[in-house]
Amino acid sequence: MIFEERLTSYVTQIERALDAALTTADCRGQESIVEAMRYSALAGGKRLRPVLTLEFCRVSGGSPADAMPFACALEMIHTYSLIHDDLPCMDNDDLRRGKPTNHKVFGEGMAVLAGDSLLTYAFETAAAAQIPSDRAIRAIGVLAHEAGYYGMIGGQVLDLAAEHRQISHAELTTLQDMKTGALIRAAARMGCIVGGASQEQLQAAETYANALGLAFQIQDDILDIEGDEAEFGKPIGSDEKSGKSTFPGLLGLDACREQVRSLTDEAIAALGVFAENTFLTDLAESLVGRRK
Ligand code: IPE
Ligand code: IPE
Ligand code: MG
Ligand code: MG
Ligand code: MG
Repeated sequence: MIFEERLTSYVTQIERALDAALTTADCRGQESIVEAMRYSALAGGKRLRPVLTLEFCRVSGGSPADAMPFACALEMIHTYSLIHDDLPCMDNDDLRRGKPTNHKVFGEGMAVLAGDSLLTYAFETAAAAQIPSDRAIRAIGVLAHEAGYYGMIGGQVLDLAAEHRQISHAELTTLQDMKTGALIRAAARMGCIVGGASQEQLQAAETYANALGLAFQIQDDILDIEGDEAEFGKPIGSDEKSGKSTFPGLLGLDACREQVRSLTDEAIAALGVFAENTFLTDLAESLVGRRK
C-alpha cells in the first residue's frame, strides 16, 4: 500500500474510533462535558501519535486493530495536554486546530474539566482493550509513565520554568524530550508492546521516536515563527509572546532546519530491524518542512 493510502486509512479509522468512544450515550446527563471533550478531540489534528501506535503494532507482527484502544487513549491524552497548554495560565492561546481554543468556547472551568476528563477516560479506553492482559498492563504503564511527571507533564513544568530566561542547549533538549518526545515515545512503545515486538525492535522504535520527537518540536518552534496561521491552525508568535525558550531562539532558524533534517535521517536509520519500514520512513520524511 502506498504511504498516502495507508495514512488516510489509519486517520479515518482513528477518527471513527474516537467519535464512537466519546459518546453521550449513557452519560448520566453529562452532555455538556462530553461536548467540550468532543470539540477538541474531533477538531482535526494530524493524529501523528495514534498513527505511530497502529503502525508500530503492524510492523511488530500484530494487528493494528488490537492497538486502536491505546492509539485513542494516547490521542485523548495529547488532546487534553493541548487544551490545558492553551489556558490563560499556560500559553494563553486563542486558536487550536484551526478553531477557537476550548476555554474560549466553553470557559476556563469547563476547559480544565474537559482536559481532566480526557485524561481519565483515556485510561478507561485503554483498559477496555481486548488483548492479553500482560501486554495491556505493560502498555498502560508506558502511557502513564510518559504522560506523567517523568514525561510530558515534567516537560511542561520545565517549559514554564524556562520562560523569560536563557537556558542551555542541553536543558532545552531535555525539556523537549519530555514535553513532546514523551508522548511520541509512548506511541511507538505501546504499538511495539501490543504487536509483540522483540527487545531489539522495541529499542529501535524508541530511537526512532526520540529523534522524530525532537525534530517534530524543532519544526513546531520554526512554524511558530514563520508559519502561516491558517495552515498551522494555531497562532504565530505565541512562543515569543510568552518569552519561551525555543530552538530557533537558541540556535537560529538555519541551524534548526539542518537539525530537523539530520534528526530525521537518524530516525530512519534506526528502522533496519523492521522488515517493513517504508511507511515509517515516509512518515518521518513527510514531517520535514511540514507547514501544519
Ligand atoms: C502540537 O502537536 C503540540 C506539540 C507537541 C508541538 P501536534 O502538532 O501533533 O498537534 P495536532 O495533534 O496535529 O493538532
Ligand atoms: C506543547 O508545546 C507540548 C504539549 C505538551 C502540549 P507547545 O506549547 O509548543 O505546543 P503548541 O505550539 O501550543 O501546540
Ligand atoms: Mg506550551
Ligand atoms: Mg502552546
Ligand atoms: Mg509550539
